[in-house]
Amino acid sequence: MEHVQRPSFDLTSGHASNVKRDFSRSRTLQRKAHRLIPGGAHTYAKGDDQYPENAPGFVARGHGCHVWDVDGNEFIEYGMGLRAVTLGHAYKPILEAAYKQMQLGANFTRPANIEVEAAENLLEMIDGADMVKFAKNGSDVTTAAMRLARAYTGRDLIAICGDQPFFSTDDWFIGTTDMRAGIPPHICELTMTFPYNDLNALSRLFDMYPSRIAAVILEAEACSPPKPGFLEGVKSLCEERGAILVFDEMITGFRWHLGGAQKYHSVLPHLSTFGKAMGNGFALAALVGKSEIMRLGGWEHDRERVFLLSTTHGAETHALAAAIETMRIYREQHVVDFLWQQGGRLRQLINQSIAENHLEGFFEVIGRPCNLVFVTRDQSHNRSQAFRTLFMQEMIRHGVIAPSFVVSFSHSDADLERTAEAVFEAHKVYRDALDNGIDKYLEGRSVKCVFRRYN
Ligand SMILES: Cc1ncc(COP(=O)(O)O)c(C=O)c1O
Repeated sequence: MEHVQRPSFDLTSGHASNVKRDFSRSRTLQRKAHRLIPGGAHTYAKGDDQYPENAPGFVARGHGCHVWDVDGNEFIEYGMGLRAVTLGHAYKPILEAAYKQMQLGANFTRPANIEVEAAENLLEMIDGADMVKFAKNGSDVTTAAMRLARAYTGRDLIAICGDQPFFSTDDWFIGTTDMRAGIPPHICELTMTFPYNDLNALSRLFDMYPSRIAAVILEAEACSPPKPGFLEGVKSLCEERGAILVFDEMITGFRWHLGGAQKYHSVLPHLSTFGKAMGNGFALAALVGKSEIMRLGGWEHDRERVFLLSTTHGAETHALAAAIETMRIYREQHVVDFLWQQGGRLRQLINQSIAENHLEGFFEVIGRPCNLVFVTRDQSHNRSQAFRTLFMQEMIRHGVIAPSFVVSFSHSDADLERTAEAVFEAHKVYRDALDNGIDKYLEGRSVKCVFRRYN
């Protein structure tokens, strides 16, 4: 197929795209990192196997949605800190709030007053929640939700939405993946899965294991919207069968709506979990929920007590200050509306490029505008990691790191336009690779999924 002309959004941005970049420091550091750190990174999703070989190895600094690698190359980023940084890197008001608090001390022998202020701030935003416990990681709070639900119901099984990618680093979830070495089989047997939007499948689980399912956990929405009545049906089923409904709002929180996806869809769970965007990159996560359940973690009740989230760093003061300031900015500057608006614009620009490069059915942008991801398909229309790699490779060549198209409050119109230019160039190569074979264009190995049993 002939190359198409550049689209109308072509800008003379003057930006360094498709320049020959020096990555020598990155490459040296990568070799060292693999000697010192299993997998070369402390988070699998950031690892070298997730990115094409021309990707920068290490980021030295960021500002807004721009990052500079250790060799001084600049890129626009999407996804930013695995979706934790929704306002922007080094976002000044957040840094100032955290620094001001840090100067008063990070952690004391008794609780800090800011713990109560942060609790009030978060609970004001989440309609159905009466109480909160803070922690550092999302995994810790989803795990705490499972323990609490088991204690509250006196049951042992957990039902998770099996086609959603991640809930926790702990055994109850990792045991359901292909990467379950080190997890005893009897632990794996305690977690059941059901597909999203399949109420009958969940109902069948309740029938198969009567009075045994303690909790049902899912993201209210991931890449596809709930069918009408699905979320309401899940809640009714849980209530009829005596299970606790948990919405994992690690991604949807601070994106779908100020009150989370539960507010957006008007279905309030019994417990829910937040993290990621809450501190604009400062480590903070939260379990929130009904006091009738949550209070088992305290002592003002007659039931057996539950060890519910108690960690040395859980209430680190500057992370709480960052969260309070993040929530203030979200409320006052309508951040969620901006994320939807910019995501919508970006989708339009990308769809224009898809049409102009005749890539319908091969490259698709899916999800809500505040959380866009892309799907890559090969000549046979099968999902393709090789074409994902090729697309990311070409985006990087044009100055954009795009494992997704998840925007932040710092993605300006100019950033979107620069991204659209890169997308158009990457799509041209994608089209050529469909026509002439990908091997001519792919410069290294393909990316791989994290959850694989062997290399
Ligand atoms: C939906 C969801 N739940 C839970 C987690 C775990 O959060 P953390 O990495 O902070 O432990 C993640 C992390 O990616 C997530 O995406």
